Amino acid sequence: MRSYTLIAPAKINLHLEIIGDRPDGYHELVMILQSIDLADEIYLQASDTDTIHVRCNHPEVPVDKSNIAYKAAALMATEFPTAYGKYGGVNITINKRIPVAAGLAGGSTNAAAVLVGIDLLWKLGLTQSELEELGAQLGSDVPFCIAGGTAIATGRGEQLSPLPSLDNIYIVLAKYRSLAISTPWAYKTYREQFGDTYLRDTDSLSARAAAIHSGPIVQAILHKDATEIAQKLHNDLERVVLPAYPQVLQLRETYASTGVLGTMMSGSGPSVFAICESQQQAEQVKLRIRETIPDEDLELFVTRMISHGIQVASSV
Ligand code: C5P
Repeated sequence: MRSYTLIAPAKINLHLEIIGDRPDGYHELVMILQSIDLADEIYLQASDTDTIHVRCNHPEVPVDKSNIAYKAAALMATEFPTAYGKYGGVNITINKRIPVAAGLAGGSTNAAAVLVGIDLLWKLGLTQSELEELGAQLGSDVPFCIAGGTAIATGRGEQLSPLPSLDNIYIVLAKYRSLAISTPWAYKTYREQFGDTYLRDTDSLSARAAAIHSGPIVQAILHKDATEIAQKLHNDLERVVLPAYPQVLQLRETYASTGVLGTMMSGSGPSVFAICESQQQAEQVKLRIRETIPDEDLELFVTRMISHGIQVASSV
């Protein structure tokens, strides 16, 4: 096979809790990550040269070495020099549908697709955990994006514990096109404002991370009950993002007024999602939001939770 087309789904956070600092400057997190049906398409093609080349249909996505998909291919070339020598470089084409800088892991899922695709292109036969270890070198959300579905993520976000999958729960997702929030800014501001509440010792951190397994959101997921899940949504980063970005707060409030089951910002924002009773309700909510906020800058999607991460769509 000389080319692969891969589907790279976005994620939302059903739970995001910041529990402490890490010696590497990151935060200790307890999260529940959920794949959704909104996805980018990644086309990987073996190149006749030894270069890595990125193309993307979205004008705001860089196509140079700073693109995380480029970094993923470069990491594979460094880790597997013999295969790189044998098979050559790779052309990466990203068909972007996931809003960028939105808290939806759009870049991370592209990197995950490149790791999975090059593993196939170069016939490496890597295991899921080997791919996840490579992913962790690229970004905290990359390991989750590989297998996707529903999972508890702890540590930096790279330590995964899968949960039973949630299929066919419909959500509406909203994001202002021109609004981008820097993830480092969100975490830094949180540390400045709430750092004094962080747990300091290893035992307390481990106990807090372990507590999620028997916590109410996991119980709701085990019951596969959309209403219960929607009532237990949590995101600590809302404490810094909502006061600083009135548009995000307005979205949260507008959703709540439409009678959705529950609503929350995803990751470091600014995208906000709402859990709905059905696809029909999700379509109605989308229309209501559009009527209430008739701003063309606001992108709205009806999508649903899915049970998988990167998938191969075709190979030639
Ligand atoms: O790992 P990733 O590159 O996605 O993280 C982006 C930024 O988010 C980091 O540079 C850091 O500022 C913040 N972050 C953090 N703690 C984490 C994950 C991310 O502070 N566990």
